Amino acid sequence: MIEASLHFPPGFLWGTATSSHQVEGNNKGNDWWDWEQHPGHISEGDRSGLACDWWGGRWAEDLDRAAEGAQNTHRLSVEWSRIEPRPGIWDEQALAQYREIVAGMAQRSLRPMVTLHHFTNPRWLAEQGGWENEEVILRFEAFARKVAAALAGQVDLWCTLNEPNVYVFEAYLEGLFPPGKQDPGAAFRVMGNMVRAHARAYRAIHELAPGSQVGVAHHFRGIQPDSASPLDHLVARLQSRLFNEAFPRALWSGRLPLLLGEQAIPEARGTQDFFGLNYYTTDRVAFDLRRPGEFFGRRFFPPRAELSPGGFIANVPDGFSAALRWASRFGLPVLVTENGVEDGEDRLRPKYLCQHLQKLWQALNSNFPIRGYWHWTLVDNFEWERGWTQRFGLWALNPQTQQRTARPSAQLYAQICRQNCLSSSMVASFAPAALPILFPG
Ligand code: FCB
Repeated sequence: MIEASLHFPPGFLWGTATSSHQVEGNNKGNDWWDWEQHPGHISEGDRSGLACDWWGGRWAEDLDRAAEGAQNTHRLSVEWSRIEPRPGIWDEQALAQYREIVAGMAQRSLRPMVTLHHFTNPRWLAEQGGWENEEVILRFEAFARKVAAALAGQVDLWCTLNEPNVYVFEAYLEGLFPPGKQDPGAAFRVMGNMVRAHARAYRAIHELAPGSQVGVAHHFRGIQPDSASPLDHLVARLQSRLFNEAFPRALWSGRLPLLLGEQAIPEARGTQDFFGLNYYTTDRVAFDLRRPGEFFGRRFFPPRAELSPGGFIANVPDGFSAALRWASRFGLPVLVTENGVEDGEDRLRPKYLCQHLQKLWQALNSNFPIRGYWHWTLVDNFEWERGWTQRFGLWALNPQTQQRTARPSAQLYAQICRQNCLSSSMVASFAPAALPILFPG
């Protein structure tokens, strides 16, 4: 076989992404901790517990794994409830611990990217109405100021918010995240408050940590019409407009699209220095009168889809191409802030990874301004309402013993990061089924 390689640009950022509640453990001061205590909220009654014990110090050994795997960046989030345990009361020790972790990244040549809000809220904030209460806007700005001042000089890549669309959908429409509401009015209020809070945090970070690049990690879910029927096309467009487009459009134009019309939020216009893109999968959608709550669109994976073990993710690399094309239209450098698959046995992950990175390479070769890729995730961690039933890590974790075990994908990803390329021999050894797809002939 002739060796062929898909090379990435020099200086390309290769990393993994994590979030505070999913890895730190003992995050007892936030709304998720409370949510987990109620039977029925989390699959199998799981709890975050010690998670990956990062707060207990295991961040260091996991970042060693990332660095030994030739990664050159890591995306983590800071936990608001640790930093501001009571309104206006700041925990300097918690900030010092984050400074130490971020310094540990620099020592390992991992460029830090810091997310300020990744789904969790301090309990006191939740008790004041959380993101429905517009006081959150100034509270979030104050938090952003505190963190930016504390980490200025150490961090120059920031995400204010992680997946605001997923947060709003799960917490205020599906009711699977706290506060567990199914209330479209509240959902739109929360969206507006998140846009306004982001705009303030964006300016605060620039003021306090000059030279920073600030954005949002946007979740793009592919939504493909199931047939040529105009009704399928209509519902696909409507769902995509509200779920995928609304938030990034608001930051681009200063106008938040609503179901009917728009809300003017002029201060949000132009408040992104890069476009953070999280992509996992693509759905089909068909018009269905029985689904008023989903704007008359039934979403599903097609019968022959290649599914992850839990059936949660379909392997649709073409959807990643579409997502990258879409993200590039905003005219900003694109950072792929998350991409990955749940797969405890590591049967699909190597193929999924190779196929998605080939699409990334193709997009780069079409001159799309993509600067980096963060795989979700480094080590198995607490997967929200799905608890420990889903395993997204390059390394497996036994949460009882805290033992980590490298999956083959960890080795594959290390080779990719080290050589800054995806080669036919890597695909042949780790994902032979993808070889005829990626390197035919
Ligand atoms: C994303 C979340 C992340 C993780 C992955 C699997 O939507 O940002 O925390 O749960 O999905």
